Amino acid sequence: MKIFVTGMCGYIGSHTAVELLNQNYEIVGLDNFSNSKKETIDKIKQITKKDFKFYEGDMLDKNILTKIFKENKIDAVIDFAAYKAVGDSVKNPIEYYTNNVSSVLNLLKIMKENNVKTIVFSSSATVYGNPEEMPIKETTKTGNTTNPYGTSKLMVEKILKDLYESDNSWNICILRYFNPIGAHKSGIIGEDPNGIPANLVPYVTQVAKGKLEYLKVFGNDYNTKDGTGVRDYIHVVDLAIGHIKALQKLENEKKGLYIYNLGTGKGSSVLDIIKTFEKVNNIKIPYKITERRDGDIATCYSDPSKAQKELNFKVQYNLEDMLKDAWNYEKNSQ
Ligand code: NAD
Ligand code: UFG
Repeated sequence: MKIFVTGMCGYIGSHTAVELLNQNYEIVGLDNFSNSKKETIDKIKQITKKDFKFYEGDMLDKNILTKIFKENKIDAVIDFAAYKAVGDSVKNPIEYYTNNVSSVLNLLKIMKENNVKTIVFSSSATVYGNPEEMPIKETTKTGNTTNPYGTSKLMVEKILKDLYESDNSWNICILRYFNPIGAHKSGIIGEDPNGIPANLVPYVTQVAKGKLEYLKVFGNDYNTKDGTGVRDYIHVVDLAIGHIKALQKLENEKKGLYIYNLGTGKGSSVLDIIKTFEKVNNIKIPYKITERRDGDIATCYSDPSKAQKELNFKVQYNLEDMLKDAWNYEKNSQ
C-alpha cells in the first residue's frame, strides 16, 4: 500500500514515517520545511534502512499535489501538514486558517480528482474546548475553541463530515491527539521546536540541558491534585502506531467516517512531569510557580476505550519511558 504523508518531516510525521516503513508500507512524503529540517529525510532512511520518494513543496500549491498524484499510485493519505502554535495562531489568524484549512481543501479536491478517498487526519483534543466531562470521550461536545488553531481543526473536522455526507464512498479517520511527547529510541529524531518552546516537555529538556535557566510552572491554583495543570501525555511512537491502526481499520472497512481519541487515559500534572523527569534522568529541574497561562484549562485527559476496542490500539510506553526518550533526544541534538 502506498501512503502519501504530508508534513512528513515534522515531529509526528517523521515518527509515523518510520513506523509505516517498518511495517512495509510504501510512502511518498511532502513538506515545505516551514517547521522542520531537510536532514529529517535522511534520518528516517537511516533508522529504517529503507528508501522512499519525497517532494519539497507547499500544500497550498495545487500543482505539486497534482504532480504527486500523477507520478505515484497513492492508495491513502495521512495529513499532518499544518501550523500548530496556539499563541501564534491568535496573532496570525489569516495564516493559520489559510495553511490549516485551505491546504486540506486543496488536498481533498486533488484526491477526489484522482479517485483516492482514504484519509487519516491529524486533529486535536483542543476541539473539545473547555471539556464538559472528564475523561473526554469522542461523544463529548466539541466547540468553544479558544484560539484560531483549535478552530481550524474543528473546521476541517466539519469539512470532512460534510464531504462524507455528500459521498459516503469516502473512507475517513479523524484522530484527536492528546499531548504527544518523547522521541524515537534511537535519539535520531524527536521534537525540535523553533525558538523558545511553548510546550512543557521541550521546555523541560532545554532547562535540563542548560539552554534555559528554569521552568515556569503556569499556575498552582487549579482544582487538580497538586494545583498544576493535568494532561494526557502519550509517547509519540505510540501515537505514530495509532496511525497504522487507523489505516488498517480503513483498509478493512472500505468506507466510513471514524473519530478516535489517541491518548493513554492517564492524567499527569506539571509537577508529576518534573518529578518523573528528575527521577529517570537524574537531573534537577529548577522551576518557579508563575501566573496561569491565558487559555489554559485545568485538566484534559482521554477516555481511550473506543480506540482500544475498535482499533486494537494499546500504548506500550509509560511516562518514565516518554521522559527518558525526550531527554535522550535532546542531549544528542545540537
Ligand atoms: P510539526 O510542525 O512538527 O509538523 C508539521 C509539518 O508540516 C512540518 O514539517 C511543517 O514544515 C509541515 N507543513 C506545515 N504547513 C505546510 C504546508 N502548507 N505544506 C507543506 N508542509 C507543511 O507538527 P506536529 O507536532 O508533527 O503535528 C502534526 C499534526 O498534528 C498537525 O496537524 C498538528 O496540528 C497536529 N497535532 C499536533 C499536536 C502536538 O501536540 N504536537 C497535538 C494535536 C494535533
Ligand atoms: N506548562 C507550564 N510551563 C510551560 C509550558 C506548559 O507549566 O512552560 C503547563 C501548561 O500550563 C499545561 C501543561 O504544562 O498545564 C501542558 O502544556 P503544553 O503547552 O505542553 O500543552 P497543552 O495541553 O497546553 O497543548 C498541547 C498542544 C496543543 C494541543 C493540546 C491538546 O500545544 O496544540 O496539547 O492536544 F491542542
